[in-house]
This record gives sequence, C-alpha cells and structure tokens, in this order.
Amino acid sequence: MPRPIFELEIAYQGRPLILRELEPSLPDAGELLELTNRVAAEGWLGIPVLAETVDGVVRFLQQAHHRGAVLLGLFDGGALIGHAGIDPVEAGETDWPGTGALVIYLDSPYRSQGLGYSLLAASIGVARRRGFRRLVAATRTGNRAALALYRKAGFRLVARMDDPQDGAVFRLELRL
Ligand SMILES: CC(C)(COP(=O)(O)OP(=O)(O)OC[C@H]1O[C@@H](n2cnc3c(N)ncnc32)[C@H](O)[C@@H]1OP(=O)(O)O)[C@@H](O)C(=O)NCCC(=O)NCCS
Repeated sequence: MPRPIFELEIAYQGRPLILRELEPSLPDAGELLELTNRVAAEGWLGIPVLAETVDGVVRFLQQAHHRGAVLLGLFDGGALIGHAGIDPVEAGETDWPGTGALVIYLDSPYRSQGLGYSLLAASIGVARRRGFRRLVAATRTGNRAALALYRKAGFRLVARMDDPQDGAVFRLELRL
C-alpha cells in the first residue's frame, strides 16, 4: 500500500507555509542537510548528524521511511525552514512498544512566533495516526523555548541528568 501523504498549510505573516512529509530524494535531502547544518552549528542538544553529503541524506531518508519514521518539513516557498522527526525507538532500547524519539527545530528567523507549536502539534497528530503511543524528547535545562514548547504540548518531565558533555539535560515524555 502506498504511504499516506501528509500536507497542511500554516499561515505566517500573511502567506501560507507548507508542512508536508519529506521525500527521500532531491531537493528535500539538500534542503534538510542545509537547515540541519545551520541549526547544528548553533550547538543545540540532539540535532542529528544526518550525513555529510546530499546522497547520504537521501539514503538516511530512505532508511528512516523504511523503519516507519515520521519526517515532516515546514517550507517557506521552496526553502525548508523547519523540521520535526519522530523515529521509532527499537524494542531493545525501551520497555514501551510504540515509542518515538522526537527532534524538532526551526531556522532562527522563524522562531518564537508560534510556528514550533504548530509544527509539534501537527507532528503529534501524525504520530498518533501512525500508531506511536509515546514520544520522548531531551533538551538542555537552559533551553527555555524548547521546555515551554514541550510543556505546552503536554510533555512531562521524567528525568534530569547531568552529562559531562551536554551539561544538565531534561528528559520528557508524552503519552499519546
Ligand atoms: C525549540 C523551538 C522548536 C520552539 O519553536 P518556537 O517557534 O520558537 O516556539 P513557539 O513560538 O511555538 O513557542 C512555544 C512556547 O515557547 C515559548 N518560547 C518561545 N521562544 C521562547 C524563548 N526564546 N524563551 C522562552 N520561551 C520561549 C513561547 O512563549 C511558547 O510558550 P507559551 O505559549 O506558553 O507562551 C525553536 O525555538 C528552535 O528551533 N530552537 C532551536 C532548536 C531547539 O532547541 N530544538 C529543540 C531540541 S532540544
């Protein structure tokens, strides 16, 4: 059966942004690599290293789709300006079947205007429809925007950890 396609318009400064599933091909792979590199360079916790090349990101997207990940992209015109990914956590790594690990980020000019919440709310809806039963996320304790975002979406704190590399980190979960 073909994968169901998800697409939604989100109003932003009088124009529609498009939120849709990322395709495992160009140009989506190139857009995802550029956005992720820009955001990762800011040093946030948990921004994934996808691959070094566009071909590598195509393969990453193919493999992620294959294992049932939800990979959404928020586009302004042709430019990817936000991403939310929910990756199934393998059974050996959690006691909870149906757990997905969430990452979410926006390009810096688009932050603190409500788009992160719109992106997260839509991602939670897609995850629920795809059969996820729990989402987990992690953020540094000082990331006020991420903490406010997760709390607003109903996540609860499950642990605080001190990591020598990452400093103080909160782990959060949302039961779906
Ligand atoms: C985290 C992130 C996705 C949140 O998206 P956003 O669009 O900036 O957040 P929103 O505007 O939707 O706001 C969500 C909540 O966070 C609060 N918030 C937003 N920016 C904030 C800031 N700079 N400081 C404190 N709170 C902030 C909002 O007030 C809102 O809470 P409220 O409705 O209870 O007032 C975005 O800021 C981002 O990409 N940050 C960098 C990457 C990152 O930290 N990703 C998370 C992985 S750890």
